[in-house]
Amino acid sequence: MQEMTREKARRLIEAASAQLKYSYAPYSDFRVGAALLARDGRVYTGCNIENAAYGPSNCAERTAFFKAVSEGARDFEAICVVGGKAGRLTSYTPPCGVCRQVMMEFCNPEEFQVILATGTEDYKTYRLKELLPLGFGPGNLT
Ligand code: THU
Repeated sequence: MQEMTREKARRLIEAASAQLKYSYAPYSDFRVGAALLARDGRVYTGCNIENAAYGPSNCAERTAFFKAVSEGARDFEAICVVGGKAGRLTSYTPPCGVCRQVMMEFCNPEEFQVILATGTEDYKTYRLKELLPLGFGPGNLT
């Protein structure tokens, strides 16, 4: 199982925070950034992208996952999520249920780590299993 070092967490927090400026959130004004770490060391970033019809809006986490998978990555170690009203990081932004389910599709819930942060000096790390207990994944279909 991969260890989450402070350096690794810092790199992901910085990459996720750098995405806040690209967040397209004219309806909620809630800006979110994500940075997804693949096991080969590559980092795939994402922001939330809203839509006038509301329903087609996409969370930052799924943007990062879909970018990564569409470029051939399948093996992931961790994701960092930061967010807040007007891009102010005043509290943690936990992934929504849909994003947790997308993580479940590609990640081992006992290993994959979710880093919630308000800055490089304030973060908390969870395993996907803690955020989605008894999750339904590809293994349930076999
Ligand atoms: N959002 C994310 O991008 N990720 C989360 O973890 C929570 C919510 C977005 C969706 C929407 O654009 C805005 O935040 C408010 O819900």
